[in-house]
Parts: sequence; structure tokens; C-alpha cells
Amino acid sequence: MQTLIKNGVLATATKTEEADLLIEDDKIISVGQGLTVEDAVEVIDARGLYVLPGGVDVHVHLDLPMFNTVSSDDHYTGTKAAACGGTTTVIDFVSQETDDLLGCVAKLRQKADARVAVDYGLHMNITHLNPRVEEQIPLLVKEGVTSLKVFTAYNGRLRLQDHEIFRVLRIAGEHGLLTMLHAENGDLIELLVQEACLNDRKSPVWHARTRPAWGAVEAVMRGAALAAVAQAPLYIVHINTSGEVDMLRYARDHGVQLMGETCPQYLFFTEDDLARPDGAGWVCSPPLRTAADQQRIWKGLKEKTVQVISTDHCPFFLNGTKPILYEGKEVAIPGKELGRDDFTMIPNGLPGVGDRLPVLWTKMVGSGEFSINEFVALTSTNPARIFGMYPRKGSLSPGADADIVLWDPRLEVVYGVAHAQQRTDYNLYEGWKLTGYPLRVLSRGRTVYCDGTWSGKPGNGKFIHRAAFTGMV
Ligand code: URP
Ligand code: ZN
Ligand code: ZN
Repeated sequence: MQTLIKNGVLATATKTEEADLLIEDDKIISVGQGLTVEDAVEVIDARGLYVLPGGVDVHVHLDLPMFNTVSSDDHYTGTKAAACGGTTTVIDFVSQETDDLLGCVAKLRQKADARVAVDYGLHMNITHLNPRVEEQIPLLVKEGVTSLKVFTAYNGRLRLQDHEIFRVLRIAGEHGLLTMLHAENGDLIELLVQEACLNDRKSPVWHARTRPAWGAVEAVMRGAALAAVAQAPLYIVHINTSGEVDMLRYARDHGVQLMGETCPQYLFFTEDDLARPDGAGWVCSPPLRTAADQQRIWKGLKEKTVQVISTDHCPFFLNGTKPILYEGKEVAIPGKELGRDDFTMIPNGLPGVGDRLPVLWTKMVGSGEFSINEFVALTSTNPARIFGMYPRKGSLSPGADADIVLWDPRLEVVYGVAHAQQRTDYNLYEGWKLTGYPLRVLSRGRTVYCDGTWSGKPGNGKFIHRAAFTGMV
């Protein structure tokens, strides 16, 4: 079965050209000018549209249990929301529920494989280290799980000690896995949270005030030092402060294999948003920072110190006692209201997987600050490369999966919860005027979204068996 996309402007991380693109079944088989086929099942006229590789979001949390509830997008609704916003590959995280890492991966796949609407991969969280876990880490490569996440925060829950992070880095580096670091200072947070609670400072803004930026800066440099000594690559997740970007720059200039991602929320919102009446809806970890931090992160993206913009999509309802309609059914999932009187009870995390590309297009490409190629690099190609999926994902070359977004640069949208397909009751970008929006989205050759209509199905996505880490971006 062949589909021909004609008359569009193809834009990848490296070039923009007028060309046609031919798809056979689930793959791109040819790219060039004036392509014709006798028996194409469909010819799509992409005049006036950009043809982009589908977005790759390497940081999402689907169906993640937290604080007596669960993040409100599951593997179907989260991947549907992703696709409606132009993202055709996501990577979720496996919690280390037991020391049988392979068993944990298998358990998550059993749930997710049947539910995902677009392709997905998995990272493994390492939150408890012992000889059995150390033995199992290399075995993950054969399962296509080639990245691990470790934490310097969440004392007593997810945090590893420095010597443990060093051991993980060393084993990962020796076996072709990439380690990812959640960088905050767990001790400082624990102490500041205790003090805030003793002083009855429990409003949402105290979530940010008890998680200081300096703790993140220090933890990134600590991670860089451990990676340097382990001679292993390290990827810093959800970069949120200027100092983290400076540390990344310093480490990269000194030959450390350090890379990093930021997320839209750190580029567009600040700690002040936590003081809004609905401030709980802006509670995430690490927290939102300042306008000065935003400026430095933008500069870090421009100068390629920061290589990826992912989302850390981890949505909750703002008011989970009130049902919303999702696909014609009433749904209510306990959410941010759990911490109405105490920020320590607010489930941490924000929606964003579907918002990412439309919002960034307007703010990056529409503003003229970034080229389309830089936009594609940061949101699709770089993450695909870093996480062992390129050129199958993040490219438009023959042989790649036909994950394609037909992007209308003129489409104007007043964005918000009514547009986004994320299964929650609010949207960070409510009322934002966006210009540029996906018109049609194909996942492995199949149209899943077209002009406001969803045609994807649970189980149509596939697990991506990712390759070992091959080198720095
Ligand atoms: O608040 C957030 N980001 N929740 C998800 C967990 C994490 O650390 O990424
Ligand atoms: Zn994290
Ligand atoms: Zn996360």
C-alpha cells in the first residue's frame, strides 16, 4: 500500500526543500522532486504545508501512581494527546517496583503494548541498588531499554546515594546505556519542607521555595563530576535553572559527555504562577523558576548546550472531584485538590505532551528566534539520536518509519483544554493565540489525526526496541 505526499516543503534538522515523499506500508521509501506512482492508494496534496518528521518526546509519565492517585493520562489517552499535537513517539518510565528489572519492564509492556496509539519506548528508573540490580542493568539492552533514570532527590523514596549513582553510571557506560539524572538536592529539600510545614507555610508557592535552584545547580555539577570519573555519558532531565545550563556548558567544555533537556513549562512560566488561585496546577518537580532562568535556558538551546525539549508530561486534574467528558465518557481522577491545604500532598507534574509542538512552533519559529530546522532538531531529531531511535525516528529519509506531520504554518488557534486531547480538566496555555498547527499526522504510514478528527486506535503503536547509546549530540 503506497501513499504519496506531494508539493509539500520537507523540513528536517538539517535542510528545508520542496520535495515529494512516498510511503509504502509503514515506511518512507522515497524522497525527491516530481515523484509519481501508478497505484498509490492516496495522494496527499501538501501544498502550503511543511512536512516534518513526527515529534519525539522522550520524557512522559503515563499512568504513574503518585500520592494516592495516578497521573491522569494512560498509555492510550497520553499517546492520543501526543499524536494530536504532532508527536508520534514517546518514552515512558518503568518504576523499579522490585529488583527484577526485566520483570518490571515486562509488566509495564503488558499493560502499555495493548493501549498505545503511537510508538513508545521505555526508560528504567533505578531507585534501589544491590548486586542483583547491578547484574540486571546490562540485560536491559537486549530488551531495547537502553536508558536509566536516577535521582539525587526524593529522599527515602527514589533517591540514590552518590556512590550508587557512580556505580550505575559505570555499569551503564560499559554496556551502552545512557544514564539520565533528576538533579535536585534531596537533603536540602527535606529540611526546607520540614521547616515550611512547622511554620504552617503550606500554600503551593512553598513547593517552589523549598526546592531551591542552587540545589539543582549543585546536583548537576555533582552528576557531571560522577560522569567524568565514570567516563560515562549523562543526560540531565528537566533543566530549569540558569546555573544548570552553565554547569552543562562547563562540563561539555571540559570533555564530559553531558547532554540535557528542558521542558516548555520552564520556558514560559515562573514561580509567580504558583501564587495564582489555581497555583496547584503549576506544581511540578523541579519547580518553575524565574524570568532570568528562562532567558539562560533559551540561550542554552540556541547555542546547543541544551539539546532537547521534551515535556515531563505528568498530568493531574486540577479538580479531580468533578468529572470531564473524554471520548464521550465521564472521567474524574483525584488530582491537585488532594493538596488543597498542604503543598506536600499536591501530586507533582504538569500536562504538556500535546501542547509542546504547537506552543513551541509559535514561540520559536513564529517569533523568528529559531529556524524550522532548529525546531525539528530540538523536538524530534536530537532526542531520537540520543535515545537510540535515529534514523528510524526523527528523520524523513528512505527507510525511516512514516511518522509524519503535515504542518500548517498559517493555521490560527486559540489554544486550551478544548483543543488539547490530554485527559485533564485544565491547560497551562489556556487562551494562548497560536499560529501554526498540525493539520494531519501519520503514525507509521497510518493517518491518526486530520483536521480535528482522531482516527487512531489503542494498540496501533509499537514498542520501540531502542539501540545502545552511540555518541554525543
Ligand atoms: O513533577 C514532576 N515532574 N513529576 C514527574 C516526576 C519527575 O521527577 O520527573
Ligand atoms: Zn524527574
Ligand atoms: Zn519526569
